[in-house]
Amino acid sequence: MAKMIINGHEIEAKAGATVLEEARKLNIDIPTLCYHKDLSSFGACRLCTVEVKIKGKWQLAASCQTEAAAGMEVRTDTDNVRESRKLAASLLYFRYPQTAVVRDMAAKLGVDVQAAADSRDCILCGLCTRTCHEIVGVDALKFKDRGLARDVEEPKIEFTPSTCIGCGSCAFVCPTGFVRMEAGDGKRIIWDKVFKMASCSACGRYFAPVEQLEFISRTTGVPVSQLMTCVSCR
Ligand code: SF4
Ligand code: FES
Repeated sequence: MAKMIINGHEIEAKAGATVLEEARKLNIDIPTLCYHKDLSSFGACRLCTVEVKIKGKWQLAASCQTEAAAGMEVRTDTDNVRESRKLAASLLYFRYPQTAVVRDMAAKLGVDVQAAADSRDCILCGLCTRTCHEIVGVDALKFKDRGLARDVEEPKIEFTPSTCIGCGSCAFVCPTGFVRMEAGDGKRIIWDKVFKMASCSACGRYFAPVEQLEFISRTTGVPVSQLMTCVSCR
């Protein structure tokens, strides 16, 4: 536990917690687009900026990437913070003016936005790649290139069909709808790969891609034949 101050409130921060997590425990509203509580932080959107006092000076920092520390002082609602978040939102809006989640966030943070036809752009938030790697443990999605040299004009998520098990976690977590998943006729299509769905041995409902069940069987040692019932029938 580390004693620290957020917006004048003294709190006991949990070891290893971020400033964002501690601020949210106080019901302080901090905007985020690339953060997910179950994933490592990525620092892509910079919407979660706060001010942190370091060596007597207030400095801007991404709260999702700043670990809470003893003696730390944090401010989440100053003019500097608001301006910084607005700038980050403007940059995102400039690149993705037709993406609803970006437009809504930009409007909330004071950017003057225009109505536009919706388009489902990839905003390179990295939620899908981290979910695939950290939660599913499959690594079917990766950034092709990162850093200053990357081509920011085109989405650079690289999909490896031979590795993907069709679980759909990336489509679930994607905030913009760029990752599409379609289902029907005993099939699931995701990232243009077609998966055969397994039907529940009890109710007959299609419930999971065969490749996902095979993956679970490989990683747990449970035979596929024992994985053939859906959640409702277990
Ligand atoms: S595909 Fe979706 S989840 Fe993945 S980086 Fe792009 S916007 Fe984020
Ligand atoms: S939520 Fe912190 S940088 Fe995106």
